[in-house]
Amino acid sequence: MARQCTFYSGSILLFLGFIGFVFLPIDAEAAVKKYQFDIQVKNVSRLCHAKPIVTVNGMFPGPTIYAREGDRVLVNVTNYAQYNMSIHWHGLKQFRNGWADGPAYITQCPIKSGNSYTYDFNVTGQRGTLWWHAHIFWLRATVYGAIVIMPKEGTPFPFPQPYSEVNLLLGEWWNTDVEEAVKQANKLGMPPAMSDAHTINGKPGPLFPCSEKHTFAMEVEWGKTYLLRIINAALNDELFFAIAGHNMTIVEIDAVYTKPFTTQALLIAPGQTTNVLVRADRTPARYFMGARPFMDVPIPVDNKTATAILQYKGIPNTVTPILPQLPPPNDTEFASSYNDKLRSLNTPTFPANVPIKVDRHLFYTIGLGQNPCPSCLNGTQLTASLNNITFVMPRIGLLQAHYFNIKGVFRADFPDRPPAVFNYTGAPLTANLGTSSGTRLSRVAFNKSIELVLQDTNLLTVESHPFHLHGYNFFVVGRGIGNFDPAKDPAMFNLVDPPERNTIGVPTGGWTAIRFRADNPGVWFMHCHLELHTSWGLKMAFVVEDGKGPNQSVLPPPKDLPPC
Ligand SMILES: *[C@@H]1O[C@H](CO)[C@@H](O)[C@H](O)[C@H]1NC(C)=O
Ligand SMILES: *[C@@H]1O[C@H](CO)[C@@H](O)[C@H](O)[C@H]1NC(C)=O
Ligand SMILES: *[C@@H]1O[C@H](CO)[C@@H](O)[C@H](O)[C@H]1NC(C)=O
Ligand SMILES: *[C@@H]1O[C@H](CO)[C@@H](O)[C@H](O)[C@H]1NC(C)=O
Ligand SMILES: *[C@@H]1O[C@H](CO)[C@@H](O)[C@H](O)[C@H]1NC(C)=O
Ligand SMILES: *[C@@H]1O[C@H](CO)[C@@H](O)[C@H](O)[C@H]1NC(C)=O
Ligand SMILES: *[C@@H]1O[C@H](CO)[C@@H](O)[C@H](O)[C@H]1NC(C)=O
Ligand SMILES: *[C@@H]1O[C@H](CO)[C@@H](O)[C@H](O)[C@H]1NC(C)=O
Ligand SMILES: *[C@@H]1O[C@H](CO)[C@@H](O)[C@H](O)[C@H]1NC(C)=O
Ligand SMILES: *[C@@H]1O[C@H](CO)[C@@H](O)[C@H](O)[C@H]1NC(C)=O
Ligand SMILES: *[C@@H]1O[C@H](CO)[C@@H](O)[C@H](O)[C@H]1NC(C)=O
Ligand SMILES: *[C@@H]1O[C@H](CO)[C@@H](O)[C@H](O)[C@H]1NC(C)=O
Repeated sequence: MARQCTFYSGSILLFLGFIGFVFLPIDAEAAVKKYQFDIQVKNVSRLCHAKPIVTVNGMFPGPTIYAREGDRVLVNVTNYAQYNMSIHWHGLKQFRNGWADGPAYITQCPIKSGNSYTYDFNVTGQRGTLWWHAHIFWLRATVYGAIVIMPKEGTPFPFPQPYSEVNLLLGEWWNTDVEEAVKQANKLGMPPAMSDAHTINGKPGPLFPCSEKHTFAMEVEWGKTYLLRIINAALNDELFFAIAGHNMTIVEIDAVYTKPFTTQALLIAPGQTTNVLVRADRTPARYFMGARPFMDVPIPVDNKTATAILQYKGIPNTVTPILPQLPPPNDTEFASSYNDKLRSLNTPTFPANVPIKVDRHLFYTIGLGQNPCPSCLNGTQLTASLNNITFVMPRIGLLQAHYFNIKGVFRADFPDRPPAVFNYTGAPLTANLGTSSGTRLSRVAFNKSIELVLQDTNLLTVESHPFHLHGYNFFVVGRGIGNFDPAKDPAMFNLVDPPERNTIGVPTGGWTAIRFRADNPGVWFMHCHLELHTSWGLKMAFVVEDGKGPNQSVLPPPKDLPPC
């Protein structure tokens, strides 16, 4: 029988703050991990400004969830803040269990102020680094943390065992109240101001004012190898990351092992995770780690570099650290060649089960647009769409509507292709940027294999878009620049060892093809993980029907599911 064990995450993080040896607070026999998440507002000071932010247990970033593959995790979220809240366990498959997935109004109604909800899920067939974040409005700006899933007891990593490991959460910081800024911007129909800083573990590092004391540092011992679990929790920026003087060996992305390769810098989109091995074998000194955006079109982004310090044992804090060489912000070539190197490990123990036969082909265009808004500053508001549909959020959870067969909440007629064929990535289209809107889902029969091509367009502008699918991993079988050609491009697909992940960047003015098998019944959100675009409607959901077998239907909802 499973024993119950309760962790108090605060003390765990405090402990892990001291680097030096692998210490994971995991009881080998425990199969149930319990956490208490108190949503609290706390004053936090950064860049010479103090402001109240929403936190979990008063921590920023929030506590790490530790589990082992096969564990059951219970997280009781109690909301002491004035905002509605819901938490998404990003990348966990939640087999038949959308009730614990978390996106507000998709799989649940929010946890209202003063209420609690226990997310109850099993970690099945996954191990590696994932993360959790608020999935309502822009609250994930400060409400996020890591999920570390250790392999089953006695199962080693398929790479050299690290001496120690460290989580690095990359984020963005605003000096103003983010929720307020977004509300104001929406009233105007404009984007809100971009962030004032990037952060590593909530800290911008000494290149920012008043930030000496807000710098994350990790100590390393010469000759030892470290596992860094890197998470991009930024709202709107794809990031380059590098460590001065040290190469990194990529071993895992989105909790899936990869064929290892060595690189001086990596690229990580919002929502993605990347595990790297770093060997501390350089001249003992202090080295900066740095993170800064990748943006290959002239769209203003917060391009400031966040830094943290990798410090060899015995080196005094007074030594000035060396800065890393990050690729230039517009380095499309680096981004493309880096992505080309990502391959699934694909061994008998960790196979890449790519669907070879496709039951259903989907082709979705990604567009920015402009709709009339009489009350807005220019009489228009910026918007975004998939297949020209701007998604409208419902007022009750879509999963409830599906499970209880409540009519009138959504339509299951999301089109498999765009309403009109045009030169998607040709000259910029700046006229007739209107979209249609609706709460429209795509209905998928149980266990069908799906191929989805996500095509960027030049409606207003081309841009790179990181797409996240809930409830599944998918295989990234192809990618290209320009318009997808169904006659020629599939011949180049990698069906052997493509990267398997839950979030993928669609290249600027290009396309990405993914495949997955719809074997997880429920309602599963799919959206651009740039929060700006999600809030503009760049999202939709799949409603995957139940199968006929005993384990092929959505589980009944938990008793404490928040009411609407
Ligand atoms: C938070 O900081 C602000 C600005 O310094 C201050 O006005 C406010 O009283 C503080 N709130 C709490 C709860 O400490
Ligand atoms: C969740 O936490 C709240 C606040 O501590 C408590 O009242 C509630 O009983 C807890 N729920 C469960 C299922 O433990
Ligand atoms: C998790 O696994 C346990 C033990 O097999 C099972 O009783 C429980 O129903 C599962 N929970 C979910 C949400 O699948
Ligand atoms: C890092 O890799 C590059 C190219 O792969 C190589 O030229 C360089 O010597 C390596 N640097 C270190 C510190 O290993
Ligand atoms: C960052 O943005 C600022 C203002 O938009 C610009 O002046 C600066 O050149 C940019 N820096 C880089 C490295 O792109
Ligand atoms: C990238 O930006 C730099 C500096 O603004 C510019 O000189 C260079 O031409 C750009 N490269 C590309 C490929 O656009
Ligand atoms: C709206 O008006 C503002 C202020 O005049 C201007 O800067 C902005 O470019 C306009 N935006 C659009 C989308 O037309
Ligand atoms: C699409 O537009 C691009 C750029 O303007 C152009 O080079 C290409 O020939 C166009 N393709 C078609 C099929 O018209
Ligand atoms: C999108 O829909 C709007 C409203 O129906 C229409 O005016 C516009 O032409 C459509 N755009 C595209 C690219 O299909
Ligand atoms: C789904 O379909 C695949 C391919 O036909 C089959 O191998 C697998 O057993 C099916 N899974 C379920 C749960 O029916
Ligand atoms: C259904 O799931 C249960 C528990 O996860 C398992 O014991 C059982 O073998 C499964 N049944 C089938 C037919 O797959
Ligand atoms: C909070 O959620 C409830 C339930 O969905 C809803 O009625 C209420 O309007 C929400 N409040 C805000 C401020 O969004």
